[in-house]
Amino acid sequence: MKVDVLLGLQWGDEGKGKVVDVLTPRYDIVARFQGGPNAGHTLEFEGKKYVLRSIPSGIFQHGQINIIGNGVVLDPVLFAEEAEALISNGIDLKHTLKISKKAHLIMPTHRLLDAAQEKLKGDSKIGTTGKGIGPTYTDKIGRNGLRVGDIFHGFDERYKAAKMRHINLLNALGETPDITEIEKKWLEAIEYLKQYEIIDSEIVVNRYLTEGKKILCEGAQGSMLDVDFGSYPFVTSSNTVCAGACTGLGIAPNKIGEVYGIFKAYCTRVGSGPFPTELHDEIGAKIRDIGHEYGAVTGRERRCGWIDLVALRYTIMLNGVTQLIMMKSDVLDGFKTVKACNAYRINGTVTKDFPYDIEHDIEPIYDEMEGWNVDMTSMTSAEQFPEQFKNYIAYLEQELNVPITIVSVGPDRMQTIDMRNNK
Ligand code: GDP
Ligand code: IMO
Ligand code: MG
Repeated sequence: MKVDVLLGLQWGDEGKGKVVDVLTPRYDIVARFQGGPNAGHTLEFEGKKYVLRSIPSGIFQHGQINIIGNGVVLDPVLFAEEAEALISNGIDLKHTLKISKKAHLIMPTHRLLDAAQEKLKGDSKIGTTGKGIGPTYTDKIGRNGLRVGDIFHGFDERYKAAKMRHINLLNALGETPDITEIEKKWLEAIEYLKQYEIIDSEIVVNRYLTEGKKILCEGAQGSMLDVDFGSYPFVTSSNTVCAGACTGLGIAPNKIGEVYGIFKAYCTRVGSGPFPTELHDEIGAKIRDIGHEYGAVTGRERRCGWIDLVALRYTIMLNGVTQLIMMKSDVLDGFKTVKACNAYRINGTVTKDFPYDIEHDIEPIYDEMEGWNVDMTSMTSAEQFPEQFKNYIAYLEQELNVPITIVSVGPDRMQTIDMRNNK
């Protein structure tokens, strides 16, 4: 049996949470493989809206196991809040959620370090989510991290050593925080964590595969935020690309099956960093307004622009995407024309290759198509799509060379069109 991987192809917030929820009935297990509470995955169904940060988006369907993999960084305080909110909504979390022993713990001092480092960067700050993601992965790679499995063995000593190291670093950055309160809350949350099933997830995941169980791996962030291939240094601190599912769950590369690549019909980015197709005009503002483009976690305004096919072809290549899923198509319903950036002009030279430096001298070259001016939000089959939208899909499939198998026309679970049933 192989695992399928679902991940974002842009700068995050593509709609991963919604689609994982929609696809979950086809699977036995849903597993998050990287990131942490920097993620905000939104799901809507039966008139209710939920935002998940660390818990996989398969939690609302019935009977599936959800796993927080070793590649994830977990903040016990935010986890406890998220878990309790779900339990109070009747979700049977304690029997369906499993957490890897090898997932790293976000400490209160990691969050303080995140803030202090951003402050130090001044105008060149990354615009992080402030959740301590960078410092926690730094400790992991620097071999100083604290893992979930440590809460059962020698925890006090390890915690104190890590805390002291962080305090020294904070002092060196000119910060002298009083952590008494946040530390107390965090230690209580560590106790809370002990109620959950804490597992050797790589062994469990591979056993499930041997037993013929179907697994969906859920990515967080997006490929343009990948620490190796994204718009460095304005990225997150994990591998958000498909390879991250191998290292973040202990799955061998030859066990990867379908790779679902999710993208919006346009493009957004939150935080600092280059964004070649960003629109600073009324069109960008209109997309933001109609698409409600405000961060699910931080509430920050998302920057908006036209779809960038140069970047998409690059991330499709990096991930080996086998199926594309287009989200938020309805947001473009009211535009006279829609544009897609198909190449960049850099210092007078036109290229379709994604360049090393996207910060300077990039001029997007657009193809412009007729808009559809039809409300698609209540459509239930691809046959109902207006001709202009069908043309947009055909154009994207031709330029990206991968089939679009799902089209989303609204935030609700039901507003999802399986193109394979309808073509
Ligand atoms: P994620 O981080 O990739 O899971 O995406 P987010 O939840 O951060 O952001 C996606 C936002 O778009 C959420 O508010 C969703 O409810 C919403 N959304 C998802 N799909 C659609 C869609 O097809 N149309 C519209 N209008 N909204 C959508
Ligand atoms: P989901 O899973 C969009 C961005 C931050 C910042 C950069 C680094 O909801 O798609 P970090 O806190 O990770 O150190 O911030 O990455 N970022 C996201 N942007 N969606 C996300 O997650 C993001 N997670 C991090 O805004 O620019
Ligand atoms: Mg999000």
